[in-house]
Amino acid sequence: MIGKLNHVAIAVPNLVEASSVYNDVLGAKVSEPIAMPEHGVTTVFVELPNTKIELLEALGEDSPIAKFIENNPKGGMHHICYEVEDIFKARDEMIAKGVTVLGSGEPKNGAHNKPVIFMHPKDFMGTLIELEQV
Ligand code: CO
Repeated sequence: MIGKLNHVAIAVPNLVEASSVYNDVLGAKVSEPIAMPEHGVTTVFVELPNTKIELLEALGEDSPIAKFIENNPKGGMHHICYEVEDIFKARDEMIAKGVTVLGSGEPKNGAHNKPVIFMHPKDFMGTLIELEQV
């Protein structure tokens, strides 16, 4: 069902420093920061030839990233995003297979303004999984 790897997301305590590591140390192309208050994050995209890396910094009071950074003060891998053709079909199939879809279960528009869902890490070997309709 899943298609291409769309991105790997890394939660970071400081977006400016993290951007500089990817830009200056690794020599990657890094976007300007994009604030997404509805998701509680500020994001930077690192463009790679075959995929993207998303750097996430907490934004606002109840950011989903805040707790993660508390537990991982230096930051760490937060989730992996796979592409799917039909987000509703994918969601229904996951639920039918016993997967826990997070939140209301209704797809929300993600960082690329495309509908996404998130699935509980317990169902995927400890990794938070995002599905994005492309
Ligand atoms: Co993502």
